[in-house]
Amino acid sequence: MKLKIKRAEIVSTAARVSQLLEPGLPEVAFLGRSNVGKSSLLNKLVNRKQLARTSNTPGKTRLIHMYEVDIAGRTIRFVDLPGYGYAKVARTERNAWKSMIEGYLANRPSLCAAVLLQDMRRDVTDDETLLLDWLDEHSIASLVAITKTDKLKQMRRAKRVKEVKSQLLIAPARAIPTSSQTGDGIEQLWRAILERVDDAD
Ligand code: GTP
Ligand code: MG
Repeated sequence: MKLKIKRAEIVSTAARVSQLLEPGLPEVAFLGRSNVGKSSLLNKLVNRKQLARTSNTPGKTRLIHMYEVDIAGRTIRFVDLPGYGYAKVARTERNAWKSMIEGYLANRPSLCAAVLLQDMRRDVTDDETLLLDWLDEHSIASLVAITKTDKLKQMRRAKRVKEVKSQLLIAPARAIPTSSQTGDGIEQLWRAILERVDDAD
């Protein structure tokens, strides 16, 4: 069965969590290092080229953007959170991001899952493993999207997927290789997301 997106639109843009729409519909949050491809992946998932703004300038998404998507008889909210780990940002600002993101994640009853993105060409760092641990501790279901698979040739890609999966320290099935360029893994990621949304019912 092909998944069809009936509607995808932005419903909220906020500088802080308190400005977001009240929790209600099932939500899925997208997290990851700046420039890892969050906005691109969101666009690919909802099959709209420029719904979420993407950029070559890391740290572009400083606001929280919320989208509503109608798919498979459900309405789901996607939340595009600001990226972390942008080197040029001062420590105080980084800490502010961390507390904003954790504040959102820990206090959102409608949150069904968090999707952490990991660039397949980079090694997993403490930022990712600590975040995954933190999500576990808070009983938030998590998935990992290993991004930009199109950047490597097939042989190298298969090897890297294995390496990244072992670095993540999670069940390999929870990490899905994806490409926002070719659509690789998008259907699989959707199914994993919908499973989490249904589990949360
Ligand atoms: P911030 O909002 O700054 O945190 O970044 P982001 O995580 O939203 O990344 P974004 O989607 O803006 O993508 C960053 C850059 O990576 C852009 O130049 C994208 O075109 C590129 N990119 C994202 N996904 C892919 C992919 O799957 N393949 C390739 N080749 N490039 C990608
Ligand atoms: Mg972005």
